[in-house]
Amino acid sequence: MKESRAIYPGSFDPITNGHVDIIERGLEVFDEIMVAVLENPKKAPLFSTKERVAMIRDIFGRGSRIDVMSFSGLLVDFARAQRTRVIIRGLRALSDFEYELQMALMNRSLAPDIETFFMMPNVRYSFLSSNLVKEVIALGGPVDDLVPGPVARRLRAKIAKARKHKI
Ligand code: PNS
Repeated sequence: MKESRAIYPGSFDPITNGHVDIIERGLEVFDEIMVAVLENPKKAPLFSTKERVAMIRDIFGRGSRIDVMSFSGLLVDFARAQRTRVIIRGLRALSDFEYELQMALMNRSLAPDIETFFMMPNVRYSFLSSNLVKEVIALGGPVDDLVPGPVARRLRAKIAKARKHKI
């Protein structure tokens, strides 16, 4: 199969160094990657959709081989609308596998023409998740090695604002 474009979907609340690692690996395989930020996650996100998209654009800049968009509804419908037949998902550990397999097979049953590609991040990110990053920063821990600079700055600002409004 020849595909030059892939979609990398997720909540990205916020994007971490593990996500960045997957995007960089994806660019070794595909010409272009569309990072697709889920607009309506079940849980209320820390960052709005606009903020999450803006952070990813900040990291990768414009005019690169990376495009960033938000989406709602079915991922496979968004992929079709973007004329993209490949979905990239990162697999950190065995514990990710069950959920990811379920999702990939559901997507395949909805859209047999769309394939899911699993990619493994560098092992140093195998413990990293957006949820843990949010927990660490909320409890006053350092996140500079876990997320890109623009994200660390916005996380600190967000937490400072939340604290100010509580007092
Ligand atoms: O980063 P996440 O939260 O693990 O990403 C999950 C995501 C956005 C890939 C998934 O929730 C998704 O695709 N949502 C869109 C709704 C959808 O298509 N559901 C059916 C597929 S199982």
